[in-house]
Amino acid sequence: MKKVITYGTFDLFHEGHYNLLKRAKALGDYLIVGVTTEDYDQTRGKLNVVDSLMTRIENVKKTGFADEVIIEAMPGQKLRDIKKYGVDIFTVGSDWTGTFDYLKDYCEVVYLERTKDISSTILRSEKQSILRMGIIGTGRIANRFIPEVKLVSGINAQSVYNPNKESTDEFAKKWNLESYYDIDLFFDSIDAVYVASPHNTHYEYVKEALERNKHVLCEKPMALEKAQCEELFSLAKKHNRVLMEGIKTAYCPGFNNLIGIACSGIIGTVRSIEATFTKLENSSSRELTDTEYGGSVTELGSYTLLPAVKIFGTEPENIRFESIYSDNGIDIFTKIFFKYKNSMSTATCGLGVKSDGQLIISGTEGYIKVDAPWWKTSYFEVHHENPNDIEKYSDRFLGDGLRYEISDFLSIINGNSKSAFKLTREESIFISEVMEKFLNERKNRR
Ligand code: CTP
Repeated sequence: MKKVITYGTFDLFHEGHYNLLKRAKALGDYLIVGVTTEDYDQTRGKLNVVDSLMTRIENVKKTGFADEVIIEAMPGQKLRDIKKYGVDIFTVGSDWTGTFDYLKDYCEVVYLERTKDISSTILRSEKQSILRMGIIGTGRIANRFIPEVKLVSGINAQSVYNPNKESTDEFAKKWNLESYYDIDLFFDSIDAVYVASPHNTHYEYVKEALERNKHVLCEKPMALEKAQCEELFSLAKKHNRVLMEGIKTAYCPGFNNLIGIACSGIIGTVRSIEATFTKLENSSSRELTDTEYGGSVTELGSYTLLPAVKIFGTEPENIRFESIYSDNGIDIFTKIFFKYKNSMSTATCGLGVKSDGQLIISGTEGYIKVDAPWWKTSYFEVHHENPNDIEKYSDRFLGDGLRYEISDFLSIINGNSKSAFKLTREESIFISEVMEKFLNERKNRR
């Protein structure tokens, strides 16, 4: 019996998939079809898959060509499957020609001609109109955003706004965008906005955007006062728009896997979380000279607070801050302590003190250790009492990682809210409350 194997996402099942499976089956007697998981697709950069894994499997089964359906969940699996199932022929469409030649040592490799003018990507963009996105701000993060947005299908970076004409024109030219210094015209040109302006301007811009019925993805910290953050979410609800705070860690696959594992009981009950992020800044930088809104907490606190917020929640019994200040009153190093009923956490951030950027999640039966840059989670270890008993986990973190939050932003706008748990309204509001408490304390000590 000749065994054939093929793999695919099979999203929005179409004629090209049908033809491929039909011809794959005709190559032998028994056809195995590997359908990819959402997590695997995400880690290989395929974002915005619409159908669930179950639906995609059902659609493959319905064709009647597959004798067996398996799940493809990780890189390197193809080779193992070929050996495990005793496969004679590996086949995929001609868009992959050459890619799988390395399998020729183990079986025959056949590239079947792809059906013309149809693909899941085309169907996805037909299904949803392309979202026109505008960017407010032209700084470092805005420059990182554009290449990432290009990787997400269904969304297009359209225009840029900055009251400063010169920097707007330069940015627009660099990224081939429409350039606006008039905010009314800017908002008229878009459906959604990415706010990447200085921290203290976020609230006003987000408010303005929501009042004009635009969806908003706002760089962290979205607001520095709890009441402002609550107001923005209420406004989003009133206007039926999506409002998301862009803490990129919250959306990346590795971090979500980490949180799932921490909460799975594998290290017993989680009792302590220590998260550290330091980034030495030039003393003349905005972060170290803006005495009102600069400093380590406003800059890095959103990241270091996130693990405790995700695992322990938003209702600590006690919050305490300890800082080292520079002469101008800005915190160059801060530890934020949370005490919960039976657990505790520290969030350490520094712009003028360097430390090891680690995340340690400790439980009653072991601990999880994530080295810097844990905020771009790609690898972590689970340790137990026996030092030789270590489990290692890895996920890919692609590029600057903004593609994950952009992709989730788009799917929520398109009515698929399954990613909304990654950073909830309550969590964003709580983080803004912590920022506000900290800034008040800092102000009062002056
Ligand atoms: N395929 C094909 N003809 C098409 C589209 C896909 O033969 N017009 C084949 C692919 O080459 C692959 C299999 O179908 O062997 C599953 O492809 P998949 O990546 O799931 O589908 P695409 O439509 O290519 O998806 P996307 O646009 O997301 O890349």
